[in-house]
Amino acid sequence: MIMLGQAQVFLQQRKVLRNDIVQPLGARAFDVLELLLKARGQVVNKDQILQCVWPSTVVEENNLQVHISSLRKALGCNKDIIRTIPGRGYLLVGQDEEALMPKTPTPSLWADTGSVLIGRDDVLAQVHDALARNLLVTLIGCGGIGKTAIALALAASIHESQARVVFQVMFADEQSPDGLLDKLAKAMDIEPGSMEQVMDRLKQRYTDNALLIVLDNCEHLIEGVASLCEFLFATGLCLKILVTSREPLRIRNEHTIRIPPLDTVGVESSAQALLTCSSTQLLILRLSGLDPSFVPDNASLALLGEVGRLVDGVPLALEMAAIRASALGLQIVIDELIDRPHMLDASLRTAPRRQQSLAACIEWSYRLLEMEERSVLLMISRLDGQFSLDAVCEVASGLGFTHRQLMDSMMGLITKSLLLIVPQGPFHRYRLMRATRSYLLHQIAVRNDSSLSMYP
Ligand SMILES: Nc1ncnc2c1ncn2[C@@H]1O[C@H](COP(=O)(O)OP(=O)(O)OP(=O)(O)O)[C@@H](O)[C@H]1O
Ligand SMILES: [Mg+2]
Repeated sequence: MIMLGQAQVFLQQRKVLRNDIVQPLGARAFDVLELLLKARGQVVNKDQILQCVWPSTVVEENNLQVHISSLRKALGCNKDIIRTIPGRGYLLVGQDEEALMPKTPTPSLWADTGSVLIGRDDVLAQVHDALARNLLVTLIGCGGIGKTAIALALAASIHESQARVVFQVMFADEQSPDGLLDKLAKAMDIEPGSMEQVMDRLKQRYTDNALLIVLDNCEHLIEGVASLCEFLFATGLCLKILVTSREPLRIRNEHTIRIPPLDTVGVESSAQALLTCSSTQLLILRLSGLDPSFVPDNASLALLGEVGRLVDGVPLALEMAAIRASALGLQIVIDELIDRPHMLDASLRTAPRRQQSLAACIEWSYRLLEMEERSVLLMISRLDGQFSLDAVCEVASGLGFTHRQLMDSMMGLITKSLLLIVPQGPFHRYRLMRATRSYLLHQIAVRNDSSLSMYP
C-alpha cells in the first residue's frame, strides 16, 4: 500500500481509498496514477502517458485531462500532489521516494509499466503462448537485450487480465543462493522460514489462486534458482514460472526463448524503413524524451540507423547512446561507437550497477565464465565479423586446447549468451557483438600480453 497524502493506493487491487471510502476511478485513470507513481517524482510527459495507457489507440489529450482531474478528485484536499508542468506533463510532488514506495512487500509486485516496450509485439505473443503451454519459460539473452523489460510487460498484461496473481522476485542483487528462499517468501508476502515452513505457508496461502511467479536475473545463481523452481513445483500449487537469465536453468519442464536484438537496417535504407525499424524507434523515443523538440530529419534518421547497427540493436546500448547523443550530438556518438563501443556508459541514474556501462554489463557475464571459456572467448576476439567453427579451430591451433575443450567452451559461450549463432543450413556460423569484441580486445591490450595463459 502507498500513501498519497491521506489517500491509500493499493496497487494490486487497483484501488484508491480516502477516509476508508473507495474512490471511483476508472482503469485508465488508475493506469495514469501508476505511471506517475513509478516515475518517483520525475515528470512524466504527456506522450509517454498516452503511449503507455493507450498503446494502440490515438487519444485526444483532453481525455488525459479528464483522468487527471478524476485522480485529483480522488485525492481530495491533497489534490495538488499531482502537479501539471505546463507544456511537459505531470508529476507527483511532496513525497519522498520512500513514501511513494510500498511500505510492506506488496503481494503482487507485478510490473514496471512505466516503460513503453518497442518492437516486441511478436516476442510478447510468443512468450504468452509459451506460458500457456509450459510450466516454466526462461527468457535468455545477453545483458541489456530486454529480458526483464519483456517479462515485466508480460506480467503486467497477465495481471491486468487477472488471469493469474503475479509475483515478481528480483535476484540481481542477491549474492548467495542461501538468500533465495527468503527473498521468494518476502516477495510472496509470507513469513520466511525453513523450506518446509515456506512450503506449508505457500500452500495455505495460495491454494485457491493461479499464480505467475517471475524470477528475474538468475544467471549468477543459476543452480540455486533451478532448485527453487523445483521447490515451487513441489508445492503442488497452480503456478507458472517466468525466468529471465543470461543462460538457461536446464531443468525439467523448461521452455527457453532466446530474445533477439531489436531490428536494425542496412546502410542505404529508406526513411520509411528507418522509421519502422525498432532500434531507430527506441532511439527516437528516448531522444524526444530528453529533448521534446527533437524531430529527426532524413540526415539524422540515417545517423540513427547507423547507431542501431553499431550497437547491434541492443536496447540498453541504444538508451545509453540516446543519452550521450542528446548532449554530444549523434555524429560524436557514432565516432565513439566505431572506436570503442564497450565504453558507452551513459545510463539512467536508477539503473543497476551492472547496467551503468556496457563494459560492466559484459563483465557481469564474463565473470560467470569458467576459466577455459574465458580463454577461448579472448582467443575468439581475434576473429572479426562472422566466423566458422573451422576458423575457431584454426586460431586455437598450437594453443594447447584439446578438440573437446574447445567444443565445450564454445557450447558454454553460446549458452551464456556471449557468442551468437548465425544459422546457415546444417552448419552454424558465429559472431560476437561489437561491444563484446571491443571489451575483450581492451582486456587483452590492458594486460599487454598475448600469451593465452594470461588471458583469464
Ligand atoms: N523493447 C524495448 N523498448 C524500450 N525499452 C527497452 C526495450 N527493451 C529493453 N528496454 C530498456 O533497455 C534497458 C535494458 O533492458 P533490460 O533491463 O530488460 O535488459 P536485460 O536483458 O534484462 O539485461 P540484464 O541481463 O542486464 O538483466 C532497460 O532500461 C529497458 O527499459
Ligand atoms: Mg534483466
